Amino acid sequence: MPQKQTFVSTSEAVALLTSGQAVALPTETVYGLAAKIDLPDALKKIFQIKSRPFFDPLIVHVGSIAEAKKCVSSWPLSAEVLANQFWPGPLTLVLSKSSLIPDLVSSGLSTVGLRMPAHPLFIEILSHTGPLAAPSANKFGKTSPTKAEHVTQEYAGTVAVVDGGPCTIGIESTIVQINTDGSLSLLRPGQISTDQINQALRKGGELSATWQEPIKAQAPGMMQHHYMPACPLIISLRPIHIDKLKSEVLLRLKQMPDEVEGVPIKKPQVIESYALISLSDDPTIAARQLYSTLRDNADKDLLVLEWGPQKTHGPWSGIWDRLKKAATLILE
Ligand code: TXA
Ligand code: MG
Repeated sequence: MPQKQTFVSTSEAVALLTSGQAVALPTETVYGLAAKIDLPDALKKIFQIKSRPFFDPLIVHVGSIAEAKKCVSSWPLSAEVLANQFWPGPLTLVLSKSSLIPDLVSSGLSTVGLRMPAHPLFIEILSHTGPLAAPSANKFGKTSPTKAEHVTQEYAGTVAVVDGGPCTIGIESTIVQINTDGSLSLLRPGQISTDQINQALRKGGELSATWQEPIKAQAPGMMQHHYMPACPLIISLRPIHIDKLKSEVLLRLKQMPDEVEGVPIKKPQVIESYALISLSDDPTIAARQLYSTLRDNADKDLLVLEWGPQKTHGPWSGIWDRLKKAATLILE
């Protein structure tokens, strides 16, 4: 059945956002579902539309460093260096928030995640609306959208979307918290690596960065199962023998709980259809393919991906992080 299309222009998006609606907008990472940070009812719509729990804070998107500074209570040198180096781009900085940021955005935390997106249509919209809170425009726990059509499919055409083409990066931003003692915590890996961040800080005169493991209270959105496609994804770190794999998977799924941290686990009774999926050997292209590949094949009973154990770090760390969370099972 053809989907209802609800594509809107940037000026229509500005009008909708200013009148208190949530609108899906393109970024270079994934599509976001945006609302104005000063309109509480619009912010609540984001949580309702996504079925997102209120404990999971939203990233605030800004059009300039000057705007970012208004959202925080302090702007350390490391923030200045990293924003200058990587903005606009796929880096979110978590800092102590100012009174401009409502609790609904920060989920009651004293911090706010800030990012200047690189998509020209998003930047144009921001210049008319001011800061916009925007999580990825998928239902909570599901695969992020990297095309406007993904958003239309997810919400059956009930959410207005600005079509900015396919996302060029394809996985969500790297999230770095700058702690009050100046140390850094990696809350989510992405295309920008910790090596690149260390290098930028050295170049900017911050000499050496100290990294600390994040604690759960700092990052309430770090769930074990997230980004899950509509059918189970099985990652095999060993060569695949499909018949053996099917019976092992059915048995292992039966033993799993029905729900993990609020995210339901899909368990087919039989495996009649499956898709063997693959991604490029180039991590930049693989990131771009990842979510589309998961979505395009999710009408099967099972998705299976054979994965090399060496593709877990360096430029693969963001992709591996998403794969681990999208997977129902990883066969070692
Ligand atoms: O690339 C991206 O970051 C995309 C695009 C739309 O900008 N956005 C995105 O938002 O991925 P979302 O909500 O799907 O993921 C943001 C993550 C969540 O896990 C949330 O818990 C975390 O960022 N987060 C947001 N604000 C935070 C804060 N103040 N402290 C800790 N974690 C925070
Ligand atoms: Mg998300």
